[in-house]
Amino acid sequence: MARKFFVGGNWKCNGTIEEVKKIVATLNAGEATASNVEVVVSPPFVFIPLVKELLRPDFQVAAQNCWVKKGGAYTGEISAEMLVNLDIPWVILGHSERRSLLNESNEFVGDKTAYALSKGLKVIACVGETLEQREAGSTMEVVAAQTKAIADKVTNWANVVLAYEPVWAIGTGKVATPAQAQEVHFELRKWLAANVSAEVAETTRLIYGGSVNGANCKELAGQPDVDGFLVGGASLKPEFIDIINCAS
Ligand code: G3H
Repeated sequence: MARKFFVGGNWKCNGTIEEVKKIVATLNAGEATASNVEVVVSPPFVFIPLVKELLRPDFQVAAQNCWVKKGGAYTGEISAEMLVNLDIPWVILGHSERRSLLNESNEFVGDKTAYALSKGLKVIACVGETLEQREAGSTMEVVAAQTKAIADKVTNWANVVLAYEPVWAIGTGKVATPAQAQEVHFELRKWLAANVSAEVAETTRLIYGGSVNGANCKELAGQPDVDGFLVGGASLKPEFIDIINCAS
């Protein structure tokens, strides 16, 4: 079965009510010419109900994080149950900004992924190496360890999309070359085949994130193991529609 191309827009910690309405209006007016693309946008928590209400029905909504277990006395956290209650289908977990700024460990991300899946959420799980790690030649070792921590806790991969986001490419304008992205995606798929199963390797979507924009998306999308994108900055702009359409 062919893997359906996936384009996620991570709005990160951006926007006001007015700006969010404008972004949604642009998305709603955009002509998505590519059929067979799954589109998911991820606003900050506080704007999720507004986006859900206004967004075109063929695009879905994701949260940018959720708590590692059932809600309770965890000030400031949002539980998987709450997202399910709001009818939010997706959540991004393990983004490098949370790993580095909030010290989320591989194991914590694995636990979060397993808990979110157990509550019926679909997960965009992020992995990726820093520049220092790449230069030290440990890219695959790093992303394999991050993926293993998820694989150790997850038995059903049907609702997981794995996002490879090299930290050095995020928000820097320094996109990975198509060959660099393909190399890591190919190795990740090989890792899944060897450590999970051939079926999971074949069916799991591996998406790339890091300075994707309207100009560079086509060539990246042409790589055999690149099944879509997780877009940051450009997902706040009209060119997000071009990125969605680049798979056609
Ligand atoms: O989640 C998205 C990534 O962090 C990529 O962000 O497209 O602004 O580089 P960026």
